This record gives sequence, structure tokens and C-alpha cells, in this order.
Amino acid sequence: MNYKRVFNFNAGPAALPEPVLESLRDEMMNFQNSGISVMEMSHRSKQVIAIMKEAESLLRELMGISENYSVLFLQGGASQQFAMVPMNFLIDQKPAAVLHTGYWTKKALSELKKIGSYKIVASSEEINFTALPDCQNSKITGEEYSYLYLCSNNTIYGTQWKKLPPVVSTAPIIADMSSDILSRQFNVNEFGAFFAGAQKNIGPSGLTVAVIRKDLLDRCNEKVPSIFQYKAHAEAESAYNTPPVYSIFVALKVLQWLKNVGGVAAIEKINNEKAALIYNAIDEDEFYTSPINKTDRSHMNVVFMIRNGNEELESKFAKESEAAGLSGLKGHRAIGGLRASIYNAQPLEGVSRLVDFMKEFSKKNK
Ligand SMILES: Cc1ncc(COP(=O)(O)O)c(C=O)c1O
Repeated sequence: MNYKRVFNFNAGPAALPEPVLESLRDEMMNFQNSGISVMEMSHRSKQVIAIMKEAESLLRELMGISENYSVLFLQGGASQQFAMVPMNFLIDQKPAAVLHTGYWTKKALSELKKIGSYKIVASSEEINFTALPDCQNSKITGEEYSYLYLCSNNTIYGTQWKKLPPVVSTAPIIADMSSDILSRQFNVNEFGAFFAGAQKNIGPSGLTVAVIRKDLLDRCNEKVPSIFQYKAHAEAESAYNTPPVYSIFVALKVLQWLKNVGGVAAIEKINNEKAALIYNAIDEDEFYTSPINKTDRSHMNVVFMIRNGNEELESKFAKESEAAGLSGLKGHRAIGGLRASIYNAQPLEGVSRLVDFMKEFSKKNK
């Protein structure tokens, strides 16, 4: 089939691996000789149950998730998790401790506030979230706080906790991993729970993955409506109601692809290489700047500016790069500038093409 594809730098929904899209196309009309598409199948059918089981087991294998955790396939996006986390995990009037790092923790705080209370134990708001907050001396105890909440990669501001912050916490750590899950190795056992909207590194939007340590499933007050209880979803093996079957099917294909390229350790190496290529191009040329503190720079979302925020040139860059087959480089509407989202499915070739474009553009517009 003849079609033209471009390099997709969108922040989410984002690029999917081409072999995945091709295989979905091939199986669209007739999945495994059933005569129907997966999109048309009952979630109680043996084929869909097998798809869900395999997706769960591959996710466990790729991330090293033990049987101490439940893996849940949910809907409602990461934003629904901003509400479900406090609904399920706040206990005994104890506040949640929060590391505030930007747009997405702010959204989480606004939901938390409606359900219980929180304390911001570290924040980088004062410096406009251009670095991660210093929390060297923070100590979070389970006696004082229900849990410690953080966002592992800040999609909009472009900062990322490369390892868990140096907070001593005896309260469970709960993380929004929407934009860097499966992009690097996490020690899952350090977390009480984590969640991610699928639309960056897992698959299409419509699916949300939540991984919950089993002992925490019992925290939820039974008065919480069942649809919002992790326990209800865990007991029903992610089929409490109709799950997003096709999105889970796509996720399975993405996980198979990731295993084929060598798993999380292998993709982490490639991701580091891709990020280094772009940050080097920024640092080598004073035409470009990164507003982000060097050690905190995200390997998934590279935020950069031209001449420290020249809007005219930035919008020219976005337009001309689009015309050159590099799509989605305009910065988020909340902060402007430019942003290259380079999730797992962004090939090294796409990043090299971007870097070449950056050099050309700088030469022409200096
Ligand atoms: C880190 C992070 N958290 C939460 C969200 C919200 O996700 P959703 O649109 O699935 O609710 C996003 C979306 O981009 C995100 O990047």
C-alpha cells in the first residue's frame, strides 16, 4: 500500500511503532480466522481473555512486576487516577505528601483537595518548574502521611526524576508514570502504586494502566463507588465493566515489539542516545536554549527555545519542520517554545533528521 508517513514528535497520543500499525492493519478484518475484528469481540470471549492475560504477563515481565502487585487495565485516563488515588489511598485523615513539579502534579493536587488534604513537601514552582525541587532532607513517615505522591516525568516542563528522589519515605510512594513508563528501568518494588495513561509508551488513548501493591487494595473505604475502587477492578481481573478491548490489543502488540527490540534496558540505551543528540544540538548552538536544569532534563520530552523565547522564530520553526516531515514540535500551550517528544517508538532516524533540521534552521535564521 502506498502511504506517506512523517516523523511524529507529538506529546500524546504519540507515535506508535510502524510494525505494530502494519500488523494491526493486516489483522483488522479477520483476527486469527475468527471472521471478525478484535474491535468487534466480546470481552468475555476466549480470544480477548487470552489477549488481556498475555498483555498483563508481558508487562509484568518487561517491568519486573511481581505477584505482590495487581496489574489493572482501566479507562478514564491518567486524570481519573488523580481522583482514584486519593479516593483509594487516603487514610485516617492523614494528608498525602506531594512533590510538586508542574502542570500534572497541579492537576493531581486539585483533585486531592476535593477528597482530602495534602502537604506539598517540596516544590519548584518558585523557579517556574525549570528544575526538580531539592528534597535532600525530606523525611516522610507513614505515621504522618497516607502516601508520597510524585510524577516521574513532567511531560510539559520537560523535567524527569532519573531515580527516585532522595526522600526517606516509610509511606508508600505513588507515581504518575504516564510519560516515561517502559522507557527506562524502574525498581517497581520501591512503589506502592503507579499508573500511566497509555497514549505515550504503551498504546492508544482509552487505556490506563494501574499497578497496585496488593496490600494497598484494602485501604479503600467501601462507600467509594465500586467503579472507582481498585479492589473491584482487581477482583474482576480488569473486566468489572467492558474494558477498552482494542486499546489493550494494541498495547499487547507494543509490548511484543518492545520485547523484540530487547526490552526496557535496550530501549533505555536508545532513549538516552536520542536525548543526548538533541540536547547536544541545543547546547552547541547559542541560537537554541534549554530552560531546564541540566541534570533534571527529561529524556522523553525535550523542551527548548529559540533566542530565549523568540515567538516569531519558534512559530516559523514549527511550521517549517512540519513541512519537512517532522510533525508536532510546537511547545505546549501552557508554556510555549518548542518540544520534541521522543518516546520509545520515535526511531533514532527521526531524531537525527530533527537535529539536521535544527542545524539548517539555525544557519538560515542566525
Ligand atoms: C504526566 C501526565 N500525567 C497525566 C496526564 C493526563 O493524561 P490523560 O489525558 O490520559 O488524563 C498526562 C497527559 O499528557 C501526562 O503527561
